[in-house]
Amino acid sequence: MSSISRIRPATIADAALCAALYAPHVRAGTGTFEIEPPDAIEMAARIDRILSRGWPWLVREAADGRLLGFAYAGQFRDRAAYVRTAETSVYVAEGETGRGHGRALMEALLDAARRAGFRTFVAVVGHSANLASVALHRSLGFREVGRLARVGEKFGRRLDVVIMQRDDCTGDGQQPG
Ligand SMILES: CC(C)(COP(=O)(O)OP(=O)(O)OC[C@H]1O[C@@H](n2cnc3c(N)ncnc32)[C@H](O)[C@@H]1OP(=O)(O)O)[C@@H](O)C(=O)NCCC(=O)NCCS
Repeated sequence: MSSISRIRPATIADAALCAALYAPHVRAGTGTFEIEPPDAIEMAARIDRILSRGWPWLVREAADGRLLGFAYAGQFRDRAAYVRTAETSVYVAEGETGRGHGRALMEALLDAARRAGFRTFVAVVGHSANLASVALHRSLGFREVGRLARVGEKFGRRLDVVIMQRDDCTGDGQQPG
């Protein structure tokens, strides 16, 4: 792990590095169900969509400027009643996994998402054999609330998704007991 790294809010200028980090996960991984990596222009649009609504997109960068990972949160679904529920996503650079970057990003992201008004967090983990993602979310207080069987198809395989959820308050606005 780089000895000095920091987490900061992303800007549109981070789009190319985010796209480059994300592309290997798309091409070779099942953590995302995208098939074609988005280019820098598309990534810029995604970052802008998050930031323009006041939602968090964070990057972790090494002292030499390398991007180690990114994480973002946005409203789980567009319909208005989901206003307090966010879907979170996190990606760590190839060769940098297992070094605490994912956890650090997610802790910062949850803080930022709470400041943005979210109280319930959903991670749609593709797929159940993604032990790193399941472990990361579980260690952050997410629990598995469901699975969707064979909803994805990638690399000739039918893939499930694990729905994981963390509640920072109950549905009536009360803190969980
Ligand atoms: C999932 C991912 C973000 C995790 O980030 P990371 O930096 O590798 O994880 P960390 O080193 O911060 O580890 C976080 C926790 O998960 C555990 N963990 C990490 N990798 C693991 C693995 N392969 N198997 C089991 N547990 C694992 C760690 O022990 C740690 O647990 P702790 O906090 O209780 O000590 C990263 O592996 C990744 O980018 N994967 C591909 C993309 C993806 O699936 N993203 C998630 C989309 S929802």
